[in-house]
Amino acid sequence: MKSVGIVGLGSYVPERVLTNFDLEKLVDTSDEWITTRTGIKERRVAAAHETTTTMAIEAAKMALADANVPPSEVDLIIVATVTPDYFFPSTACQVQHAIGASKAAAFDLLVGCTGFVYGVVTACQFVQSGGANCALVIGSETLTRIVDWSDRKTCVLFGDGAGAAVIAPVPEGRGLLGFDLGSDGSGGPLLKAGALQSCYANPLESGFSGRPTLFMNGNEVFKFAVRVMAESTLAALQKSGLTIGDVDLIFPHQANIRIIDAAARRLGVSMDKIFVNVDKYGNTSAASIPIAMDEAKRNGLLREGSVVVAVSFGAGLSWASFVMRM
Ligand code: ACO
Repeated sequence: MKSVGIVGLGSYVPERVLTNFDLEKLVDTSDEWITTRTGIKERRVAAAHETTTTMAIEAAKMALADANVPPSEVDLIIVATVTPDYFFPSTACQVQHAIGASKAAAFDLLVGCTGFVYGVVTACQFVQSGGANCALVIGSETLTRIVDWSDRKTCVLFGDGAGAAVIAPVPEGRGLLGFDLGSDGSGGPLLKAGALQSCYANPLESGFSGRPTLFMNGNEVFKFAVRVMAESTLAALQKSGLTIGDVDLIFPHQANIRIIDAAARRLGVSMDKIFVNVDKYGNTSAASIPIAMDEAKRNGLLREGSVVVAVSFGAGLSWASFVMRM
């Protein structure tokens, strides 16, 4: 089978920073509570002119520049998001037009925070099979537009941003080595945001305000996350014929430092093998892993030949991981 992997990365985050101290003025919380319970110090918030689509476009342009690939060579665009500007047209079609990828097929993927990892695995299948030659996978979210800013249990956790990766053939032995995708819809009610379902409810009874807002059972999601982060990493490594000792760097979904710590303990890896930037951006859902990978690359941490794991969990419930030799 053709070797296929990530050949370029890019990311975009809004300029506006919302610190824990800013949140202290909005809800009954404290920097101390947020820092010790989540590891988050600040997050980015999209300005009025910034949307999931505009951020996706910027991240896509940066990833293409990093890969030195012109938009005309891209023949597949996948955007992972739970916060699209529109139900339709898809975010991916808008990116396709904006960057001038005139021969690209384009579609969105709605898998919650797990979407980018699902997208990379999907794009790799297309390129490996010859169904595409060069794909763009983007995770982009404006979660601050669907959080309930009066709910201290959730509003402190999320932020906005976008990250993108270019997927193309790579030298033999490099690229995607294995993956693990999974879902358990029975956990759907633990983490959700309404869409058309809200229209069927009686607004007087449901309290529906006209804007879909995010609901999360934090404790249950926490337990689920710790379990699947370790299990999925090991499953993907087994399919790759590797062990945890072969891994140079792990990119966990950046949701909560305690989840990351607990998963690292279960895997028996030290924190210096785990990339963390949740302190700066909070949980950016599908954008969290590509933003982290791009930052790592710019910091010289993605060396040629190094083995990396990306592992995520999220709404669905869902989980996903891939192992890649850079
Ligand atoms: N500030 C101050 N106090 C707070 C806050 C806050 N922001 N939020 C909750 N509290 C209070 C609660 O009201 C509760 O008080 P009480 O005991 O008087 O009722 C107390 O703190 C403890 O609340 P818990 O919910 O038990 O706190 P916990 O330690 O579980 O931390 C958290 C909550 C951070 C949400 C944790 O459960 C968590 O991280 N869960 C996973 C979240 C996650 O990863 N989500 C991502 C989902 S997937 C995706 O990425 C979309």
